[in-house]
Amino acid sequence: MPESVYTEPQTSAAGLNIDFNSRLQITPLRASKDFGCSQGDQGLEIIQGLSQIPKTLPVQYFYDDRGSQLFEQICELPEYYPTRTETAILQAHAPEIAQITGPCELVELGSGSSTKTRLLLDAYATTDLPQWYCPIDVSGGILEQSAIALLADYPGLQIQGYVGTYDLALASLSRPVLPARMICFLGSTLGNLNPQECQAFFAQLTKALQPGEYLLLGVDLQKSPQQLEAAYNDSQGITAAFNLNMLRHLNWRFQANFNLDEFQHLAFYNVRDRQIEMHLKSLRSQTIQLRTLDFTVALEAGETIRTEISRKFDLVELQTQLGQGNSLENASSSSTRTLHPLKVWTDPNHWFGLILCQCLA
Ligand code: AVJ
Repeated sequence: MPESVYTEPQTSAAGLNIDFNSRLQITPLRASKDFGCSQGDQGLEIIQGLSQIPKTLPVQYFYDDRGSQLFEQICELPEYYPTRTETAILQAHAPEIAQITGPCELVELGSGSSTKTRLLLDAYATTDLPQWYCPIDVSGGILEQSAIALLADYPGLQIQGYVGTYDLALASLSRPVLPARMICFLGSTLGNLNPQECQAFFAQLTKALQPGEYLLLGVDLQKSPQQLEAAYNDSQGITAAFNLNMLRHLNWRFQANFNLDEFQHLAFYNVRDRQIEMHLKSLRSQTIQLRTLDFTVALEAGETIRTEISRKFDLVELQTQLGQGNSLENASSSSTRTLHPLKVWTDPNHWFGLILCQCLA
């Protein structure tokens, strides 16, 4: 885990020394007893996934620093339409979003390179109020780099970043400094959650938000299997490298012995569940050890490990689901909050959608 707290003044692109220290705080979050889970639970998820039929691996293990770089390359691919489509929607409508919400602190789940965030920061920069941005990402390297680049370009910006999973980060958010807050969950990362996980996640979001605060959700929409499958089987093999990189990540993190040459990238559209599935197919029968987890698993020749689901949404259905309310499982609270959809934007082809919701008590 990167320990990523800056103590040195950094030099901006213009060669000026900027005291980033006072404007940047990056807090690594770990599954700890504070959150009711032990260090070993991290590996437990892997053991559980590899003990299931079909075998699965947790999606967050894509994003070590190399994986985050590969993902940035995916976003530039001609076949991978989501990033540029969502960017175009934001370019067209970020000012309107800012106008609807008024001054807001921006919290971003899975901030990555924070490229799209700039469009929002620009839209929210119209008042004299200081700007607050809270990026959350499992990849400490990319979070740090992007934060420093943002501080150089936005002189009034304060950044509080968290390195960790969404669960931990949502539970650790500090009180907003500005009157309101908007949690941004862009890029259709929501698609990584199955319907049950999605429902639980919405409940977590409503718990993290105060009534009146906002959620900005970017989702990939249903379209032809041909177009979808092309986006996850690019001709340059970057998506394949991204998929296989998860095994390299597990090799160093858990002293595993995956041989990347013995696995093959597989991505297809599952029409019934309306999701792209990425798998790694074992090319021969083999036994894998994850030494620090003290775990061994056997794979048959041709057997696959599912590394990702990427669900494709229907905007009407999703809005209904958001508005249905999310009973907090917390026994001490019987209140039901909803994520009330305020407005929806899409592109001319209806490939991608952006939903602005307000949390209502
Ligand atoms: C970051 C989860 C939205 O599902 O399209 C891209 C990840 N995987 N290519 C997606 C991904 C393969 C991406 N999300």
